[in-house]
Amino acid sequence: MLRTIVKAYKERTQQAGVSGFDSIPIFVDLMNESLIYPPFTTITSGVNEPECTVEGRKFLLFCANNYLSLTENRRVKKAAIAAIEKYGVGPGGSRVIAGNVDIIEELERRIARLTGTEDCLTLPTGYMANVSVIKAVLDPFFFGMPVKKDSGAVFLDEFNHGSVQDGCEVTTAEKITYAHDDLDDLERKLKECHRPNKLIVTEGVFSLEGEILDLPAYVRVARKHGAKIMIDDAHGVGVIGERGGGIVDYHDCAQDVDILMGCMYKAFGGTGGYLCGTKPVVDYLRVAVRSSILSSAIPTMMAGAMIEAVDIIENGQELRRTLFEKAAYLRNGLVERGFTVLGRDLIPSVPLFMGDEYLGVRFTEELHKRGILCSLVRWPAAPQGKARFRIIVMARHSYEQLDRFLDACSEIGVELGMLEASEKNRV
Ligand SMILES: Cc1ncc(COP(=O)(O)O)c(C=O)c1O
Repeated sequence: MLRTIVKAYKERTQQAGVSGFDSIPIFVDLMNESLIYPPFTTITSGVNEPECTVEGRKFLLFCANNYLSLTENRRVKKAAIAAIEKYGVGPGGSRVIAGNVDIIEELERRIARLTGTEDCLTLPTGYMANVSVIKAVLDPFFFGMPVKKDSGAVFLDEFNHGSVQDGCEVTTAEKITYAHDDLDDLERKLKECHRPNKLIVTEGVFSLEGEILDLPAYVRVARKHGAKIMIDDAHGVGVIGERGGGIVDYHDCAQDVDILMGCMYKAFGGTGGYLCGTKPVVDYLRVAVRSSILSSAIPTMMAGAMIEAVDIIENGQELRRTLFEKAAYLRNGLVERGFTVLGRDLIPSVPLFMGDEYLGVRFTEELHKRGILCSLVRWPAAPQGKARFRIIVMARHSYEQLDRFLDACSEIGVELGMLEASEKNRV
């Protein structure tokens, strides 16, 4: 697909005699023609709820990362309103200027407690955390302390989120990619690399692969090769672990991770990112993470809401049990009907495999006709020929809604020739 697009782009830009900025309209046309340009669905009500409204029509929503349904939680909303009443709507600056507000510090204490780490630094988004932290650690903000520029190497799982990839672009560290979840490949690459400062970055939960990381195995490899380890736990926090502390809670190894990153727009139901670690490391990040010192702090109203969300998560065993039961129901339902669901682990993000991109697009259209929104992840966000839906189950989905989704998938699967018509796949 990439080759076809590049060829068409060359031909058309040559014909039109344009290049660079002036070729943007041609590029956008090509994206539309090859169905890469994403649909920007405008939701007018029921945002992040199991049922939402799009252009006056009701849709079942299976693509909001609101795992625990905290976005619309009454306590969380009330806490946001109370924070607005007390602090107004913004933090007033970056943390080093006027944005170091008590409610933000309180949120950081609560996240550190939730994750079992010593300290925490929050940012307005997870992207901002990932895009700055690698530089902060591997290119220190003043030369020679504690590591020299151009002395580091960052080892990335090939399926790491784009924000981590972007974070690598701004450092002088060498970027070394290892095959997805392949510890042998990682070890081989660690051995071959003679740079003194090595950082492994991977994810606690790979939502598109249906996998929970075997973190203790990664910690062992990191220690063996003198590397540090950073985990992006965007999809794990709030969802896995006895107290919802994510991957480090799940494996009971918070002290073994050097930097723990997470975001608040998934299980927390709000927005924001964070970086946790030991007190000295977080004290360092407070002044070295450029997206913290050069950008405004997380809004105080969001900090208020997220403190309440953390409280619900810490006491959310029942909520998580319900969520996992529903995720299992959906996953098993798809498998029983004959679909391929990726992944070795049960998580509330269920990757329904399509393979061919165009099959995925047709499936999406059919879901849409039946009033269902679900996001198809396809090239370039997934490897070519490995398109899949990321079906997000939320705590507030009802079994009746899950059944409607499963029945729609059966019907479409038969229509598109993916499944045989059978008793299970009623049409
Ligand atoms: C694994 C992962 N890391 C980081 C991010 C970025 O987080 P945020 O949306 O808070 O910027 C996301 C969001 O999609 C993510 O899935």
